[in-house]
Amino acid sequence: MHTPRFWLRCSRCDGETEFRQSARCACGGSLLVEYDLDHVARALTPEVLASRPGSMWRFREMLPVERDESIVSLGEGSTPLIPLPALQRALGVRAAHVKREEQNPTGSFKARGFSVAVSLLVEHGVGKAAVGSNGNAASALAAYAARAGISAHVFLPEDCPGLIVDECRGYGAEVCLVRGLIQDAGRLIEEGREAEGWFNVGTLREPGRVEGKKTMGLELAEQLGWRLPDVIVYPTGGGSGIIGMWKAFREMKALGWVGGEAPRFVCVQEEGGTPLASAIAGGGGAASAHASPTGLRVPSPPDGELVTRIVRESGGTAVAVSREEIQAAQKGFGALGLSSSPEGAATLAGLRRLREDGWIGPRDEVVLFNTACAMKYLPWTAPAPATVVASYAEYRDLAAAPSGDPALPASAGTHAGMHPAPNR
Ligand SMILES: Cc1ncc(COP(=O)(O)O)c(C=O)c1O
Ligand SMILES: [Zn+2]
Repeated sequence: MHTPRFWLRCSRCDGETEFRQSARCACGGSLLVEYDLDHVARALTPEVLASRPGSMWRFREMLPVERDESIVSLGEGSTPLIPLPALQRALGVRAAHVKREEQNPTGSFKARGFSVAVSLLVEHGVGKAAVGSNGNAASALAAYAARAGISAHVFLPEDCPGLIVDECRGYGAEVCLVRGLIQDAGRLIEEGREAEGWFNVGTLREPGRVEGKKTMGLELAEQLGWRLPDVIVYPTGGGSGIIGMWKAFREMKALGWVGGEAPRFVCVQEEGGTPLASAIAGGGGAASAHASPTGLRVPSPPDGELVTRIVRESGGTAVAVSREEIQAAQKGFGALGLSSSPEGAATLAGLRRLREDGWIGPRDEVVLFNTACAMKYLPWTAPAPATVVASYAEYRDLAAAPSGDPALPASAGTHAGMHPAPNR
């Protein structure tokens, strides 16, 4: 019998199932991709990798796409890992590096996840995708869907940075603002999914995005000469990047590419929105939503249990940093010549805090993840009116209105330059 190259296993009940485009198990756990690692080992070695050109698809055999023709790529991955000697000296750590994820297409690391997720949409013949997002996932879906000829429907919190809203439109997505937060956007999609024919590519709803983020961990080991750092400081929203990198370290260990201890994960969130940081620290009930409108603000992470377990088992910790600390860290990165998003800067703020209190010691080698660039969050004065809805019912009624386009607010109809890009 033909053995599949990859399948799914539940991170909670351990149940296995054949590969499908769902990351939810009946038990409530997350389904993650498992690979036939013997097959991977025959096709891929560090030597083979060294001969392949820069792209996250260099790790092709460790990504769950069957056919090369399905791959939707815009040049994602192979981002630089650069040393930060001045910071190293200032903080007194053995080594500090930053992984420059802001250099990905669409200016954020979300490109990795959507390159895989949209490739899977192509492979499985899906033509209409929707995402609820704080912004960067939405623009990544919009770009990759445009590349693939798939229609993208993005639902963003009302206070999403204006530049990102217009970025999504620039890629031709249907854009709708939702009264509330990211989980309200996700709920609207679930309510309308069947009627609209949307495939929901939200966090941990399908297996591709975690696999794409896994490539950050694979690249990190390769860039350090097939070793792993002591500490990874990661700006955490839903936590799928932590899940992805944890998978990367396990798979590389099983392949014999790296040995030794896996890194301790540090989950950084912004004060006022720290459900994961609080859970990791052993507290509960921190689902408040007063943090700034960035990718860190995810009051109801889809699988907090798994992220908490991974961080704890790694010997890691969590830290909540203030808006002021993040702003100071953006200046700190700037002084090193680096443009950082609030999320990326939060990792520097977290490092400073943990070095001060001694959790990170002088012998530690630390890697920060700068997940997006500063420009995405700059004040945006261009007129960007958009429909704001509170529910799927409201969305549906607007869609049925004479303009027939919920992305086209009636009040914006006459303003030149204010129209969203037409839907496909
Ligand atoms: C720039 C940026 N950094 C970090 C995150 C959080 O990522 P994760 O969902 O992997 O925790 C997001 C999510 O929106 C983001 O946009
Ligand atoms: Zn299960």
